[in-house]
Amino acid sequence: MEKLLITGGRALQGRIIVGGAKNAVLPIIIASLLAKTPSRFDEVPMLEDVRTISQVLRHLGVKVDDSEPNVLTVDSRDITSFEPPYDLVSTMRASFLVLGPLIARMGKARISMPGGCAIGARPIDIHLKAFEALGVEIEQGHGYIEANAPKGIKGATIYFDFPSVGATEHVMMLAALAKGKTVLENVAQEPEIVDLANYLNKMGAKVRGAGTAVIKIEGVKELHGADYTIIPDRIEAGTYMIAAAMTGGDVIIENVLPEHQKPLTAKLREAGAIVEEDVDRIHVVSNGQLKAVDVKTLPFPGFPTDMQAQIMAMLVVANGRSRVTETVFENRFMHVTELMRMGAKITTEGRSASIDGPAHLTGCQVRCTDLRAGAAMILAALVAEGQTSIVDLHHIDRGYENIVEKLRGIGAQIERVKE
Ligand code: EPZ
Repeated sequence: MEKLLITGGRALQGRIIVGGAKNAVLPIIIASLLAKTPSRFDEVPMLEDVRTISQVLRHLGVKVDDSEPNVLTVDSRDITSFEPPYDLVSTMRASFLVLGPLIARMGKARISMPGGCAIGARPIDIHLKAFEALGVEIEQGHGYIEANAPKGIKGATIYFDFPSVGATEHVMMLAALAKGKTVLENVAQEPEIVDLANYLNKMGAKVRGAGTAVIKIEGVKELHGADYTIIPDRIEAGTYMIAAAMTGGDVIIENVLPEHQKPLTAKLREAGAIVEEDVDRIHVVSNGQLKAVDVKTLPFPGFPTDMQAQIMAMLVVANGRSRVTETVFENRFMHVTELMRMGAKITTEGRSASIDGPAHLTGCQVRCTDLRAGAAMILAALVAEGQTSIVDLHHIDRGYENIVEKLRGIGAQIERVKE
């Protein structure tokens, strides 16, 4: 096992480069299953989750070449199985999205129910209800889903009870090869949805309205592979923006689309940091004396739930009382008790947390309970007095490429050692 050792107190200075978006590249790699000719992806982040989804595709008979750094080529010409491996689907929920493309290509599929995870039960009712509306027959039992489309997939108008990101992506992929027109209402509007739609359209699909609450899809007979460059990871970028603000730093974050950072930029400015936006970079300057602010997570374009743990780490050392409300997941405060071990003053009640700052954080041994909670622990360690050691790093490796090198590059005292 490995652990991170971080000694806090340094103001971060310099330039840091953001990689491709984990939550865009995962559905896009899966969507390549819809084509019988190869696709090549650039700006692919080298993450555990990308390695996992590549394994899932190889298990289905797909050729995946990841020999070139940050590049992936996928050839789904021959799919030899319609049942992804249980152990991979259970380790990474996004694998569940292969169900739609398998049905579109093979007419049927069998997949284990994706488990919940630390942040919530994460049901799939919205996915399945939409699939049935498109003509898929779904049977559930023994922890598995059997899906069949004996009469093919027919377009339909579907209203989403909640703008689920995964369900929006999943149904877009299936409807792309449906007979006729599909209208999806009250769907997710995240930038990753737009990236997937852009890739699908490069493959020959007819998807309109991605990024708004209504997506219209004209089904086509066949899709071909396409070359595609993944958008920058707005959550990785946001994590480094917060690191700059809470350490009293001066950091230029490169390869960022400022329009994807609006909620966080607004909150950092409200807290007193200076945030300058350029075409593809953001410059964050702060004196480290931040004001308390209130944050409420919402589906895009609201404040992203994937930044909630990270901004909470910042509010722990801000002046005054902040309130954080998590409206997207039911159990996304796992980082609270770990932050309290370092000296944070937080009380929670249901989906709301009150944070009194500035707390004097002291380094100690903490663990990552989930991906973004792990990021929050790193942020807290950057301002804590003394050394913090962080274990259970596999959570971090799922979503942050080269985070030790990147943070060290802007002056953090951080190293990864064997336990
Ligand atoms: C995606 O997960 C992201 N993962 C998550 O990022 C992100 O937190 C989430 O969207 C919300 O933005 C990937 O893109 C791989 P949802 P997803 O379906 O699609 C409920 C990270 O840290 N729901 O939008 O699983 C669900 O329970 C990860 O990078 C249903 O009730 O999220 C949750 O409360 C964590 N029924 C809410 O919707 C359904 O059928 C949001 O879930 C589906 C979802």
